[in-house]
Amino acid sequence: MSGIILCRSKYGGSAKYAEWLSEETGFKVIDTKNADINEVAKHDTVIIGGGVYASSISGIAFLKKNYAALAGKKVIVYCCGAAPYDEELVRGIRNKNLKEQLSGLPLFYFQGMWDLNAMNFGDRTMCRMYIKMLEKKDPATMKAWEKPFYEAKDKKCDWTDRKYLAPLLELI
Ligand SMILES: Cc1cc2nc3c(=O)[nH]c(=O)nc-3n(C[C@H](O)[C@H](O)[C@H](O)COP(=O)(O)O)c2cc1C
Repeated sequence: MSGIILCRSKYGGSAKYAEWLSEETGFKVIDTKNADINEVAKHDTVIIGGGVYASSISGIAFLKKNYAALAGKKVIVYCCGAAPYDEELVRGIRNKNLKEQLSGLPLFYFQGMWDLNAMNFGDRTMCRMYIKMLEKKDPATMKAWEKPFYEAKDKKCDWTDRKYLAPLLELI
């Protein structure tokens, strides 16, 4: 069985999971932005992963555009966000990113990284605005997955953990 891992990562979290997946499976990792569908479609298993930014999975456009060429392949999607795993959160990400023909695909969520100081200006500004909005909320009404953003603020956090890969590896 041959496979390939496509990944779009800005801050390293999704890339770390891609490297761990590669170590476990022997599949090569490529940046989704350099992916050629003719090469990707030569493999039986295609894993596509990316960071979550404002609930959108980076690189998912490649899958939307090329889904027909991957018919009959085992296609697996993973995403990496700062929030801890939460069913409601992941349902929201699924509904936003895996619509229509993508709706039946398996989606795995892994917790990633957070470092305001390492972000580019636009991302940092957006994240600071989000934290300010959370600060105005009553902590009692805050969703479980919102708390880490509020608590992390300027702290550098790395929540990546290889153990999260177990269910995905089982599916392969
Ligand atoms: C502009 C921006 C928006 C983000 N939006 C979300 C989000 O909606 N949900 C979430 O869990 N994490 C969010 N994050 C945190 C990232 O998902 C987290 O840093 C993750 O590690 C990014 O993947 P990467 O490290 O592969 O780039 C956001 C980060 C940035 C910079």
